[in-house]
Amino acid sequence: MIPSAHAEALNVLHWWTSDSERQAADRLVRQLAAQGVEWHDDAIPGGGGGAAIKVLTGRVLAGEPPDVAQVIGRTLTDWAGLGLVRPLDDVAQRGHWRQVMFPVVLETVSRGGHVMAAPLGVHRINTLLVNHHVLEQLRLKPPRTWAEMEAAAKVMRAHHVTPLAWSDEPWQVATVFETVLLAEGGPRLYAELASTTGWSSWQDARVVAALKRLRWLRDLDDEPTTEEPWTSATRRLQSGAAGMLIMGDWARGELQAWGEHAGLDFDCVAVPQTAGMHLYSIDTLAMLVGRNAHRAEQEHMADILAQPATQMAYNQAKGSVPVRTDIDPAQLDACARDSWQTLARPGAPLLPSITHRMAAVESVRDAIGEVLHRFVRTPGVTPQQAQAQLLAIVRGAAP
Ligand code: BGC
Repeated sequence: MIPSAHAEALNVLHWWTSDSERQAADRLVRQLAAQGVEWHDDAIPGGGGGAAIKVLTGRVLAGEPPDVAQVIGRTLTDWAGLGLVRPLDDVAQRGHWRQVMFPVVLETVSRGGHVMAAPLGVHRINTLLVNHHVLEQLRLKPPRTWAEMEAAAKVMRAHHVTPLAWSDEPWQVATVFETVLLAEGGPRLYAELASTTGWSSWQDARVVAALKRLRWLRDLDDEPTTEEPWTSATRRLQSGAAGMLIMGDWARGELQAWGEHAGLDFDCVAVPQTAGMHLYSIDTLAMLVGRNAHRAEQEHMADILAQPATQMAYNQAKGSVPVRTDIDPAQLDACARDSWQTLARPGAPLLPSITHRMAAVESVRDAIGEVLHRFVRTPGVTPQQAQAQLLAIVRGAAP
């Protein structure tokens, strides 16, 4: 649908406020402006979007939703079920989304066969970033196994480098934990843990192993641990104060925004024991149902967001990869190429992020983060106790 000559600006609520997130959003703003769609920015700071989702929920309940919002994964499909989100089937059909997008992307944005949001990019959560200069100086290789990581940590410590940049913010702890769950449990168990009905799998002994590994990882940060924002942990990696960081690949986007060059200044590998697997989080913008007069602009925006030029411009700044299968992977750096090629590889294990709302409902995601937060901060809580708490949450939420 072509908007009228009097097209109004669309309010967009999101949580992209770091340097790279801002750059990526600004690229969207420019692509949209070039085609006559105006973006009115409503950014709510807070990594992982905890604050943004709360503000957004308040506005929706008050009957004053923004026109567009970063509503993703399970939250998106739940809201679609409540009739809060505008279906985009016509836009998807005209843009041949079914033919040009990864099936996992289409599945994530669909409910009851209807496409409910414009997909932007796919982040890889099981990403280990390593300061390349530190590695070179200490003659180390990016670790591929926990044993290699342990050996690397020993050498780093001996040279007064903090092995791992860690933050105690609940969503960051939960982000690391799910990569460890995948590493310790393997893709089949992880998929069961992430499914809403698979609560009994949380009794598995490998969950205890993952909790032990989580504590071990936290102890690799020698700084008195704080709840620093993810950008501060990334700074410590960049400066070489810390050697490694486990974080979704938006941290890679951030390093790039600060002038770092992938492969020269930092290495990017899958978290130990998750090579060839993709723990994904798919960013999407949903068009909220509100003032009907904005429908044409909303549909026009969705169409532009999926276009190849927008996809490339945005994802190269964001650290994620395009949702499209028809791009040239040679245009991606090595880290992004590995992510994109893993998504494209038939049979590769693709697993939904629990922390980034691809699987669990918002409240369960938050409750899991709280248990993990308490667990890493309180040595008196045993892995078995934490497991029992996680089990209770997931069982309580099961249908
Ligand atoms: C979002 C990313 C964002 C990250 C850090 C994730 O949940 O998917 O787009 O960069 O949080 O805020």
